[in-house]
Amino acid sequence: MEKMPYSPELDLMPVQPAAKDITTTDWQQRLPVLVGTSVVLRELRVSDAYSLCALLTTEEVTRFISPPPTTVEGFERFIAWTHRMRAAGTYACFAVTAAGCDTAIGIFQVRELEPGFGSAEWGFAIGSPFWGTGVFEDGARLVVEFAFDVLGVHRLEARCAVRNGRGNGALRKIGAVQEGVLRKSFLKDGQYLDQSLYAIVEDDWRASCAPARVASMIVH
Ligand SMILES: CC(C)(COP(=O)(O)OP(=O)(O)OC[C@H]1O[C@@H](n2cnc3c(N)ncnc32)[C@H](O)[C@@H]1OP(=O)(O)O)[C@@H](O)C(=O)NCCC(=O)NCCS
Repeated sequence: MEKMPYSPELDLMPVQPAAKDITTTDWQQRLPVLVGTSVVLRELRVSDAYSLCALLTTEEVTRFISPPPTTVEGFERFIAWTHRMRAAGTYACFAVTAAGCDTAIGIFQVRELEPGFGSAEWGFAIGSPFWGTGVFEDGARLVVEFAFDVLGVHRLEARCAVRNGRGNGALRKIGAVQEGVLRKSFLKDGQYLDQSLYAIVEDDWRASCAPARVASMIVH
């Protein structure tokens, strides 16, 4: 999800409630805490704006994604927006924290592509000091399990600029299958970039041994 679903203009727009036939579940009240081997994923807090602003606004993190907020206040508004969208039942955004330290070092986002979350798109950004540490893979497995088990997703898509080597490598590593290239689909710094379209299908995920079902979920 390189094109962030959030933009500052959305602060002024009313949030559409979820379709009527969709049952409200606990995750809409508050996201569960997802505990992995080396990471804990939890609901974003407004106080996370400081660390996220420091870690997710660097050139290396933003090179292939749509621009995140540029100020702490901008991140605070983004975080408030994530809470509204979660309550509306269309989107979930987790803070990534390293086990034993509550500082937010990144985010995982999932948004529905159709009412009821049958298919969804996910995206992620992690502060570069934590790249290559296993934080991504551990957190990604938790989010994929959450999407299939809790949100009821059956197809989880991701879009990634073809030139984003780490992004493509990370998706392949987690078992996402490249299904095609969306030519000139992502406007970045005045230039249209090609994106790889990836998907993880629930049946494939389950068949591949439900990769390390390490996720434990604590609902608060
Ligand atoms: C995407 C992101 C979350 C992945 O986290 P990460 O810690 O860097 O990922 P990992 O190191 O676990 O996995 C990346 C894999 O890509 C590989 N890789 C790195 N550069 C690569 C390149 N140029 N080409 C192909 N593969 C590459 C790595 O070797 C690694 O695989 P390995 O562990 O088997 O060696 C992180 O890089 C990030 O936040 N990037 C900026 C935001 C972004 O681009 N988000 C993705 C949008 S789709």
